[in-house]
Amino acid sequence: MYKLIDGKVISAAVKERVKNEVAELKTKGITVGLAVIIVGEDPASKVYVSNKKKACEALGILSREYALPESTTEDELLNLITKLNADPEINGILCQLPLPKHLDEKLIINSIDPEKDVDAFHPVNVGKIMIGDYYFLPCTPAGVMEMLKYEGIEVEGKNCVVIGRSNIVGKPMNMLLLHKNGTVTICHSRTKNLAEICRNADILVAAVGKPNFVTADMVKDGAVVIDVGINRLDGKLCGDVDFENVKEKSSAITPVPGGVGPMTIAMLMQNTLTAAKKHNGLI
Ligand code: GUN
Repeated sequence: MYKLIDGKVISAAVKERVKNEVAELKTKGITVGLAVIIVGEDPASKVYVSNKKKACEALGILSREYALPESTTEDELLNLITKLNADPEINGILCQLPLPKHLDEKLIINSIDPEKDVDAFHPVNVGKIMIGDYYFLPCTPAGVMEMLKYEGIEVEGKNCVVIGRSNIVGKPMNMLLLHKNGTVTICHSRTKNLAEICRNADILVAAVGKPNFVTADMVKDGAVVIDVGINRLDGKLCGDVDFENVKEKSSAITPVPGGVGPMTIAMLMQNTLTAAKKHNGLI
């Protein structure tokens, strides 16, 4: 029997905690505010941004959306970020990625004040994560860690395998598991014997972006399987894990949808609250 790790339940618990703290700050005259910037018309990005706005509203967090046209210049975007960096109502700034090709993502991310960088994408925050001295964690890996904690899954001493080495998920996921004393291996497109390495995992995290990439023969009996993928296959949303065949081998597994996805927004809300507390000298 496997345990289904329910991201809807766990994210609701995180959001409830954030909502209560936001309300408490309000009694002290402190508001919490998030600015979300979206450039262009990418349909998936529009859905993500709309969900972030709804979450803010539900938790009493002020949300300001800046929907800019595809034709926005780098200078225009940088000017907006400079204004938001100085805006006392705004504690968190998120620039939805990917940006249109004519905009330099690195330059834009680097222009966000690290203390308002609720995505934790700025090199200062990436460096802080590396040395274990952080206040913001990137939302998706932080969501995975929250799920493991909620389910009482111990990381210390476990063989943890992360498939995928992106800056947003794979690399920071590796660091967070390492900070909890896991023994971590990152696999990627050039890894030899990938299936064999995965079969050694007590905790297997898939962040590849390929439907059904993780098959049952790659999973050890009793492993914990975390699926970070969001893919479409024949019009249906699915993860990176062949869920139907892998679930019975696992001791616990996240579904897609309803797994890691809802956690990402909950952790963004938590980071925005953390930013507000930091800006008001409370931490
Ligand atoms: N695009 C896909 N995921 C994310 C995310 O977590 N943050 C931002 N800013 N853009 C994204």
